[in-house]
This record gives sequence, C-alpha cells and structure tokens, in this order.
Amino acid sequence: MIEMAVVGYGYWGPNLVRNFSECDDTRVSVVCDADATRLARARKRFPSVEGVTDFDEVLRRPAIQAVAIATPVRTHYELARRALEAGKHVLVEKPLTMRVDHAEELVALAKKNGLVLMVDHIFVYSPPVLKMKEIVDSGKLGKLFFIDSVRINLGLFQHDVNVVWDLAPHDLSIVDFLLGKLPRALSAVGGAHAGNEIEDVAYLNLDYGDGLIANFHVNWLSPVKVRQMIVGGSDRSLIYNDMDPSEKIKVYDRGINLGEDPEKRRQVLISYRSGDVWAPNISNAEPLARLAAHFADCITHGKTPVSGGESGLRIVKILDAAQRSIKAQGGRVML
Ligand SMILES: NC(=O)c1ccc[n+]([C@@H]2O[C@H](COP(=O)([O-])OP(=O)(O)OC[C@H]3O[C@@H](n4cnc5c(N)ncnc54)[C@H](O)[C@@H]3O)[C@@H](O)[C@H]2O)c1
Repeated sequence: MIEMAVVGYGYWGPNLVRNFSECDDTRVSVVCDADATRLARARKRFPSVEGVTDFDEVLRRPAIQAVAIATPVRTHYELARRALEAGKHVLVEKPLTMRVDHAEELVALAKKNGLVLMVDHIFVYSPPVLKMKEIVDSGKLGKLFFIDSVRINLGLFQHDVNVVWDLAPHDLSIVDFLLGKLPRALSAVGGAHAGNEIEDVAYLNLDYGDGLIANFHVNWLSPVKVRQMIVGGSDRSLIYNDMDPSEKIKVYDRGINLGEDPEKRRQVLISYRSGDVWAPNISNAEPLARLAAHFADCITHGKTPVSGGESGLRIVKILDAAQRSIKAQGGRVML
C-alpha cells in the first residue's frame, strides 16, 4: 500500500483524493491546501485524512512515498521539484510546468533520484482514447492525412494560464499518445477578449511532416460545448465525439479513390468511396481510476508511465512554441 498526500483541494483535487483512496494499492493519509477552509471541506468528505496547510509538513514525513499535485499551474514546478528532492514519487496535474527548462529539470531530477514522475494527461487513460490508439495502431485508417480537434465551451477562466495552456494539453496529449512524436513545426493565433492579456480563443496548426497536419481549436467563449476529434486517413477516418453518450468513436469507411493513371491524377479525377460506419463498443471505466492504478504499478514495479515526465515535457514544448507563435501573430515556429 503506497501512502500518499494530495496537494491542492480546489476544483480538481477532490477527484484525486477520491480515486487514490479507492485504488487498491494507494492510501491518501494527508491532504495539503494553503487554504484552511478547503481542508475543512476535505476532512468532512474524507474523515480519515489529515489536513495540513504547510507543504513542508508533507515533505518531512518519511511514510509518505508519493505526492499528487493539483495546485495552479504556476506552482507545479516548485512543488514537484521539492517533492522529488525529498525522495517522493510525483503525479502532477497538466500541464507539467509553464517553462520548458523547468520541465526538463524535473525529468532529469526524477531520473537521477530513481523516482516516478507522471503527468495527469487524463485522456490517455480514457476508454475511447485507448480504442482510438488501438484503431490507429492496427493500420485500419491507412496513412494519416489530418487531425481536426475542437474543445470549446463557455469555459472556466483561469487566472495564471490562457486557454492554450488550460485546454490544449488534453488534445495535444491525445495526439502525442497516438503518434508518439513531436510535430516538426507549428503556427498559432489567439485572441484575448476579457480585458486582460490572457487568450480565451486559439487555433493551433501543427505540422507532423509526411503529409500529416493537425488543427486544434480551443475556446472559453463558445456558447456550446464541443469536444470532438477527427483523425482522417487514406483508407478510413475516425471521429471521437466525447459528448456522445453511447457512440463516442465512429469509424467511417469513406474517402477518396485515386486512379492509377498519373495523367488522371494530375487532372484531379478522383472518385469517392462511401462505405459503412462502425461504432465499437467502449467501456465506461473511469480514467482517473485507471491512472491511479497505473501510477501505483509504476512505483511498485519500476515501470515507465504512459504519461511520464517525457510526455509532459513534449506537451510543454508544444505549448511554449504555440505561445511564441501567438505573440508573433501566427509566425511558424520550428520544434
Ligand atoms: N486533468 C484534468 O482534467 C484537470 C481538470 C481541471 C484542472 N486540472 C488541473 O488541476 C490543477 C488545479 O486546478 P483547479 O481548477 O483545481 O484549481 P483551483 O484553484 O480550484 O484549486 C487549487 C488549490 O490549490 C491550493 N494551493 C495553491 N497553492 C498552493 C500551495 N503552494 N500549497 C498548497 N495548496 C495550494 C489552493 O488553495 C486551491 O485550493 C491545475 O493544474 C489544472 O490544470 C486538471
């Protein structure tokens, strides 16, 4: 049984406390939050946990082997670094850090101290995304041509990060999981409409090379909630609609047929192929429960997490490049 502390009991922290409490291999003994009223709330819901306001109190306890950090993004680096220095395994909320050099430092520190560093890229533990990975890896889609991702809603405005750093880690980590590589370049545009410098609407274009391009739309101002990703391939295409209660993934056997004759191809004589639509069965397992079990398994058996520090670093590199591109009015940034 791995004894844990959860740091940050705001909006997301309670989900971590619940899942690590319910996991067979972990036990939450301490919840740490700088705000005592939040701790009172935690104690009421989870009477067996102790509440502490001082993070040093967590670090001082040798019995605590692992720390889950669900505090605002600007605090991730400092808290994760100190936990790793104190010999604790660390789960950090997304995004790992706000700076590339900070993420690199955490990855190196975890490696040096032989500790697990994992990022809560929650979607890579969700059944629909695992199904997407299975379909992409099977080669059923053929050669990948494009990815089109939309995550828009009348969103919770964050104070320390813009919509790209808040929402895009979800979609970028899904695509990172599917492809396992960084794009070679990107360009991004964004707009701030709330009277501050924090972008609330953004469009990111990622160039993965070999004809694969990906577009990400993230938005806190949309009147409707859309969470959809299309993965278009030469043989089939897939649509992941996270808002669909029963058929989150649909595979479309539709596309184009290119003629063999190069002259006809030059004249763009393309015929269309319209085949079946297939919706695979997908379980309702809770992603955070799976993440909690995986974190414990990595600690116990020395495994490398699916969403380890390296993937967290790749996402921070993309976010940082997107930020620079937005400041340069959509200028192309090489990765
Ligand atoms: N994986 C997901 O789907 C998901 C969803 C929502 C939020 N998040 C992430 O969770 C993190 C927290 O977001 P939130 O919306 O819960 O924020 P929040 O502001 O609601 O809660 C943060 C809590 O951290 C506490 N805190 C701040 N600094 C602290 C410190 N130094 N020591 C101890 N406690 C401290 C605050 O008092 C607050 O209670 C962010 O990184 C966010 O990106 C992830």
